Amino acid sequence: MAEIGKDIEKAAVLLASGELVAIPTETVYGLGGNAFDADAVLKIFETKGRPQFNPLIVHTDRVEKISSFIQDMPEEARILAEKFWPGPLTLLLPRNEIIPDLVTAGNTRVAIRIPDHPLTLQLFAQLSFPVAAPSANPFGYISPTKPAHVADQLGDLIPYILDGGACRVGVESTILGFDEFGRPEIHRFGGISQEAIEAEIGSVRIHEDIMPLRPQASGALRSHYAPRTPMILGDIESLLEKLGGSEVGVLSFSRRYAEVPDTQQQVLSEVGDLREAAQGLFGAMRYLDGLNLKLILAERLPDHGLGRAINDRLKRAAE
Ligand code: TXA
Ligand code: MG
Repeated sequence: MAEIGKDIEKAAVLLASGELVAIPTETVYGLGGNAFDADAVLKIFETKGRPQFNPLIVHTDRVEKISSFIQDMPEEARILAEKFWPGPLTLLLPRNEIIPDLVTAGNTRVAIRIPDHPLTLQLFAQLSFPVAAPSANPFGYISPTKPAHVADQLGDLIPYILDGGACRVGVESTILGFDEFGRPEIHRFGGISQEAIEAEIGSVRIHEDIMPLRPQASGALRSHYAPRTPMILGDIESLLEKLGGSEVGVLSFSRRYAEVPDTQQQVLSEVGDLREAAQGLFGAMRYLDGLNLKLILAERLPDHGLGRAINDRLKRAAE
């Protein structure tokens, strides 16, 4: 069983010897390995049960270190990095040879992020390599936002979980790349809102493949972020009229429903705050999934700011 602790030295030694360590970030916990070590990267895919064609984000602590991983950085990327790093933004940039093919799944671009978590930044400062890390959940399941979430599912497979407490943001980073004409485009909604990005660099496009992120070739793969309990996204009130409240779980934005037992309800933010809702989203989904109910009913949140990232995760969970 993985040890859970705050020992940065231990985490550094394990990573340097090719082992995997779960690391806290402000978004979700990552399953980290040495990004320069193809064997460690392979271990990440094996541990997650993730198909190898899904590329990984490379994490580091300082923007100066990135220059050796990439060929160049467009002006807009510089502006966004300056403004939002460390933070929940991932940039897709043209990669250098030093990044193994396995990390980018053969893509010419590498995904890079400087996460905003003090413990993890201290850890990275001690390493002579960047850390490749997908979210620390088995492929297809809900991302972990607490050490216990990681331990529950990957605890038998990794030696150490660096305990940085509960994740502050709660949804994954926003991914931004550039199209063939150099125009910025969002590949995944996440912890930095489209509005915040546009305030810095003007209007951005939404990448056409943003839904679904599943590889086209395989229809057999499970959707991302999904609880095991089937989930329906819609108007909770009218769904309850049809289905009744006794055997369902409810994931709502801000209100409770009298016909559903209290223990089967998760209210994301009673005051209607999107940040609070994002922070608790994956934990609420995990809790409801753990009740082994027939169905989980969920509703869309306001579709602006962090609400877009939350709605994207809800849509995928309900696919
Ligand atoms: O907040 C986050 O981004 C978390 C924390 C741990 O940093 N990480 C995370 O990683 O969400 P993951 O692997 O669960 O999701 C990364 C996404 C995947 O959908 C992957 O396809 C995409 O980033 N991605 C990674 N590298 C890419 C590349 N070179 N080109 C296009 N997409 C890429
Ligand atoms: Mg993930």
